[in-house]
Amino acid sequence: MEKILITGGAGYIGSILATHLINKGYEITIFDNFLYNQTSLLDICYKNNLHIVNGDVRDNHKINPEIKKSDIIIPLAALVGAPICKKDPKGSEDINKNSIFNLLENISKNQTIIMPTTNSAYGGGQGGVECDENSPLNPISKYALDKVEIEKKIMDRENTISLRLATVFGMSPRMRFDLLVNDFVRRAYLDRFIVLFESHFKRNYIHVKDVANCFEHCLENFSQMKTNIYNVGLSDANLSKKELCERIKKYKPDFVVLESEIEKDIDQRNYVVSNSKIESTGFKPMYNIDFGIKEILKGCEILSKKQYSNI
Ligand SMILES: NC(=O)c1ccc[n+]([C@@H]2O[C@H](COP(=O)([O-])OP(=O)(O)OC[C@H]3O[C@@H](n4cnc5c(N)ncnc54)[C@H](O)[C@@H]3O)[C@@H](O)[C@H]2O)c1
Repeated sequence: MEKILITGGAGYIGSILATHLINKGYEITIFDNFLYNQTSLLDICYKNNLHIVNGDVRDNHKINPEIKKSDIIIPLAALVGAPICKKDPKGSEDINKNSIFNLLENISKNQTIIMPTTNSAYGGGQGGVECDENSPLNPISKYALDKVEIEKKIMDRENTISLRLATVFGMSPRMRFDLLVNDFVRRAYLDRFIVLFESHFKRNYIHVKDVANCFEHCLENFSQMKTNIYNVGLSDANLSKKELCERIKKYKPDFVVLESEIEKDIDQRNYVVSNSKIESTGFKPMYNIDFGIKEILKGCEILSKKQYSNI
């Protein structure tokens, strides 16, 4: 079986992906510094095909031998999202960008990279026309700018796939409630109200388990798919924030949606995305938005907000 290195494999996407690929029998090494003290992989430590290295991708002496040993590299390690990159620009420069440049310097032609990038770089979109992989990019935040620069660099090599992921949703052992769908559902559950800004701005979404399925699809169909960029999202879920809230109301009828222009999205994300290129390779997502909303509501029942309060 091929050896796969997943950097950031203990993260929101990584822990779902690692478990998925481990159960398919792949030989997986996770390289992660467990930045959030997450315990997301404890339940698969018993698997003989799982190897864990607690390390920092900025530590070339530690990461380079792992790169050399692997057939396939899935680089997920990053400071993820515009706010954390704004807070720590040096960290994001080194982790999100320079570590990928180090990877490119230390990888041979025959090794494979399957890299998640982001469709947030479509920015303001094309006035309602679907963005495909050839549409102009308009990144604004450091996070999105770096992702675009990295994608350009990695696509110069042949054995590479870039997956421009839509906003991911769903439960994961390393949970992220800073992602739009997860955040809105949690607000519906905990606060029963939300104040929306730029409520008509549209985004595209994909379930975290479908992201794992998509990586597996790329591994299984690599020779036909390589050297390409693919949008990965739900074709029936190009939804505005307001439309998403309406969907959540189906399951939380007491959810009150208010509007006020209290803020602006850093990347001004407002786009409709075409996912037909990845679909034409045979990939079909399995989990829709409604599935995710119901799942996250269940997750909210488990995750109590009482940790730092008396009642
Ligand atoms: N979640 C989304 O909606 C989304 C969308 C598009 C692209 N992506 C990309 O997918 C990847 C994973 O994102 P995620 O949502 O799982 O985020 P995450 O924050 O949960 O995962 C990042 C992982 O990287 C690890 N990490 C951080 N700094 C590190 C370092 N210096 N050395 C080693 N490990 C380090 C963290 O511990 C964490 O496990 C990122 O590259 C992100 O840009 C995510």
